[in-house]
Amino acid sequence: MLKKLFATHPIDVSLHVDSSKLLPGKSASEPRLRRVLTARHLVTLGIGAVIGAGIFVITGQAAAEHAGPALIISFIIAGIACAMSGLCYAEFAAMIPVSGSAYAYSYATLGEIVAWFIGWNLVLEYLFAVASVAAGWSGYFNECLSIIGHWTGIGLALPSYLSTAPLMFDDAHRIVTTGALINLPAVAIVAALTMLCYVGITQSTFVNSLIVTIKVLVIALFIIFAFRYIDPANWHPFIPKEEGPGHFGTSGIFRAAVLVFFSYIGFDAVSTAAGEAKNPQRDMPIGILGSLAVCTVLYIAMALTLTGIAPYRLLDTPQPVATALELYPQLTWLKAIVSFGALAGLSSVILVMLLGTSRIFFSMAKDGLLPSGMSRIHGKHRTPHVATMVAGVAALVIAGLFPVSVLGELVSMGTLLAFTTVCIGVLILRYTRPELPRSFRVPGIWIVSTLGSAICLYLFWQSFRANWPLMLGWTGAGMFIYFLYGYTHSKLRSLDV
Ligand code: ALA
Repeated sequence: MLKKLFATHPIDVSLHVDSSKLLPGKSASEPRLRRVLTARHLVTLGIGAVIGAGIFVITGQAAAEHAGPALIISFIIAGIACAMSGLCYAEFAAMIPVSGSAYAYSYATLGEIVAWFIGWNLVLEYLFAVASVAAGWSGYFNECLSIIGHWTGIGLALPSYLSTAPLMFDDAHRIVTTGALINLPAVAIVAALTMLCYVGITQSTFVNSLIVTIKVLVIALFIIFAFRYIDPANWHPFIPKEEGPGHFGTSGIFRAAVLVFFSYIGFDAVSTAAGEAKNPQRDMPIGILGSLAVCTVLYIAMALTLTGIAPYRLLDTPQPVATALELYPQLTWLKAIVSFGALAGLSSVILVMLLGTSRIFFSMAKDGLLPSGMSRIHGKHRTPHVATMVAGVAALVIAGLFPVSVLGELVSMGTLLAFTTVCIGVLILRYTRPELPRSFRVPGIWIVSTLGSAICLYLFWQSFRANWPLMLGWTGAGMFIYFLYGYTHSKLRSLDV
């Protein structure tokens, strides 16, 4: 049994074909994913998935409650973990250019049970990221309705029982009701973007590129116009004195690093588009590392500006950027632009994460670990339509019922585990399959792999200590499904491994 649980998936070197060639064993009439994405699409997909609730919502709480102005150090720590993982993702994605991302990489290196565990954590990452960002989107949507209402004199904002989560977890991790009915805007945005993912990858990337342009412009405007109001006094003391564990001081910097890690999540979703890239060997590393580099620079500039224009203790609100701008009546116009930009920005995160969830479901179903219907590809749209609908409906239900805060840390934990596995897996494969063609090689593999996995595990542990019942519950549910279905239906069994 152990041998079966840790059986590894053979790596099909034939995957190193040019996009236009047909893979062996596939008939020309069988619908396949459309290989249309270029390096530019992949970089914009990455930026689309990365810049969202993390920078527009969570940053404020991280500064006000945990790190103070030293938030910038937290961003750098989380950035290092992501850079190391990004390098490892780039090597893998160019070498195994399929839709399954870390799930497929661990199937090839660490065995089926580990692959299932990581795949299940990727579902946690992408699905819950969709749901949590949709819940954040709902907040900004209402804010925009109020702004329009203010301009037009018509009361447009939705009542809170229709725009907030009806359920939440109390301190003992029990589910309690809030009195609200449903988070309607969150449900509506997920439904609309699910339909977009259903009709095509080209349409989805077009909309994503538009949104990315808007949100990068908005961030640039914020940095340029708010920069001159920076008061260095707001950066003193740079590391406020520790007031409790994880509350300022060094421990606070690390606690904030776990929170802001969320804002980097998404560059890895680029790897789920490997099955749809024109030239994955060349373009996957560009997509993953390029989007990560752009976002890191923007984040550091934004964190400096935000903590420079407002005392950090004021930033603990659901819209910290807007809150900081409220201190400057001459920048009221910018506040409105930031709110609309954030709304657009969050939409692309939902879109790319939905694409990611469906591609993970699709890959797991192709391997027999999930029902085969989810591996079907639409004849006309050439999208994994069943997997897309399953992902959309699941995200929509979670987004309609739960608030952002509960979901955010779960997303980070799932991602950190996936990153750890990718960092370790890439090193293992260098020794077990040295002959595989690698169009991108991680420089200093031992340092990158060890440092990357160590930081990711450390950040995971910080979060796990506070949220372990939820994490264990999720893992338990995953293992139950694997032994009930995946273990007996795995296609690897038919290869007699
Ligand atoms: N990085 C994404 C965000 O911040 C998940 O919304």
